[in-house]
Amino acid sequence: MSRLRVIRPRRKYYDSFLSACREAHELNVSGWQPVAPEAFTRWKRTAPLVYFFLRAGLFLPAGVPRMETYWLMDGDTFAAELQLRPYISDDQAIQIGHMGVGVRPGLWGRGFGTQAVRWGIRRLRELGVQQICYICDPENGASTAIAEACGFTRSSYRTLDGQGCEQSVYILR
Ligand SMILES: CC(C)(COP(=O)(O)OP(=O)(O)OC[C@H]1O[C@@H](n2cnc3c(N)ncnc32)[C@H](O)[C@@H]1OP(=O)(O)O)[C@@H](O)C(=O)NCCC(=O)NCCS
Repeated sequence: MSRLRVIRPRRKYYDSFLSACREAHELNVSGWQPVAPEAFTRWKRTAPLVYFFLRAGLFLPAGVPRMETYWLMDGDTFAAELQLRPYISDDQAIQIGHMGVGVRPGLWGRGFGTQAVRWGIRRLRELGVQQICYICDPENGASTAIAEACGFTRSSYRTLDGQGCEQSVYILR
């Protein structure tokens, strides 16, 4: 399994990231919200400021939590995105989870999703999160397998995604 480099989003890799977004759009991937192709130009212009505001928790619209975004790079190729939400309350955590992960579709099945979540757990711990919540579509076999491989336990909580579908809440203490 190749080892990925974890970086903060960097202009140099925007095109690689956006090509992964295009792939995910064409395949209608759910569980990750890639940038829509029609928004690429605007996204490139605003991304540095948006990432800065998200990280600093400044000027965020209601309902958008402060978050850190990381990219996992396979050489110069964008492989995965990891969004961490370390500053949410326990109640919010069982609604939206402390992390979200999306892997470039062409690179699925190589262990990258698992590597991303393992790295995310370490980073959340560094930031002081004791009980980590991971939200998982019960139909999403790969996501469920990752949660279990990373030591999470399925809790009795349930939450709903944007389409109103029930999601499982996994917890790691
Ligand atoms: C879910 C996702 C992150 C998995 O990424 P990935 O890099 O393919 O995951 P991995 O290669 O680390 O595989 C994880 C495990 O899932 C297993 N797996 C893959 N597809 C599976 C399926 N359909 N059913 C059951 N298990 C499956 C793999 O065998 C692997 O287990 P193993 O390590 O025991 O072999 C990726 O499919 C993705 O980005 N999906 C869209 C966004 C999403 O759903 N994110 C998760 C919600 S936050």
